[in-house]
Amino acid sequence: MQAIILSGGYGTRLKPITYTRQKSLLPILNKPMVAHIIEKLPHEVNRVVLAANYRSDQLEEYFKNNDFGMDIIVSMEDTPLGTAGAVKNASQYIDDTFFVLNSDIISSIDLQALLDFHRETKGLGTISLWPVENVSEFGVVALEDDGKITKFVEKPKKEDAPSNLINAGAYCLEQEVLDYIEKGKMVSMEKEIFPRIIADDKGFHGLQFEGYWMDVGRPSSYIDAHKMLMDKKGVKMWQGEHCILSGRFIYSCIGNKAIIGSSDLVDTIVYDEVTIGDDCRITSSIIGANCKIGADCVIENCVIGDREIIKPGTRLRDESVWTKPLPEGYPHQQIGNAVQK
Ligand code: GTP
Repeated sequence: MQAIILSGGYGTRLKPITYTRQKSLLPILNKPMVAHIIEKLPHEVNRVVLAANYRSDQLEEYFKNNDFGMDIIVSMEDTPLGTAGAVKNASQYIDDTFFVLNSDIISSIDLQALLDFHRETKGLGTISLWPVENVSEFGVVALEDDGKITKFVEKPKKEDAPSNLINAGAYCLEQEVLDYIEKGKMVSMEKEIFPRIIADDKGFHGLQFEGYWMDVGRPSSYIDAHKMLMDKKGVKMWQGEHCILSGRFIYSCIGNKAIIGSSDLVDTIVYDEVTIGDDCRITSSIIGANCKIGADCVIENCVIGDREIIKPGTRLRDESVWTKPLPEGYPHQQIGNAVQK
């Protein structure tokens, strides 16, 4: 059985961290998010196809050096083809029922239960569902008692939402779904393909799961995902290898080879090989790899790109820090799934 992991998003909401890094390789507790997803796949899955474009070379490199005991293929798109176009582009690697998984979700979805329910209902597609309050950022379904989905509305206004159950970003699909997707075009699974399968009454179901779910698409949710996983592990900080740390850390995750002086870090993610001086206070921030932060800085709600240097005594609030040119191939604005305000 195969699983396609959608890894082709630029992650513009997480820039500048994603300028230099393939989004699905962003670390969560110092391990790439894509690795968290692969580890949860049912045993039946023996091939993973990573549908990618920007910085796909980083995925090739990562999987060359890390063996997950299964066939792992990077399927390249020359330009982003959207969530369905990317699946069509990878269709040569599919010969059975298959999973499609967003790479930026941290959750307790039981993929085996999703597969079992999909086989039971014998439909074309089964998607995982999660209840939320802020439905307007997600795809929302109308669901019958037997799990049949009768409506799928992408990012509706709260008053137009048919329920509070959203698409949780994990699908189990039959090969026939590939016939719905035009080749080589930008096609959205959520906006175009799911509504058409429902209209054709080909069997489209949803399964709600229990536990936790987090879309790691923006800096605040990326930080929240770390906090949630730390809570689950009963710890207040997480640190990599070969660090020299003298600070106080609350809900903060520190990468490998970091050197941090006598400073306070709260709700903060620090990547590898970062140096932070004494007497800093850093809250709700993400600090990219190889950054150097001088003493006596106050940094609040910021995302600092790789290799940035912050002078001693600097005050930063609600800022993205990137002093170099925009990397080639990275879009100037969010494409695809923007939320209508
Ligand atoms: P933003 O730019 O911040 O909106 O992030 P994003 O580009 O990752 O978009 P979004 O979070 O909506 O994407 C949901 C999932 O689909 C993520 O796993 C993305 O990697 C993936 N994805 C989105 N668009 C494409 C695409 O065109 N091709 C591929 N292969 N994957 C995509």
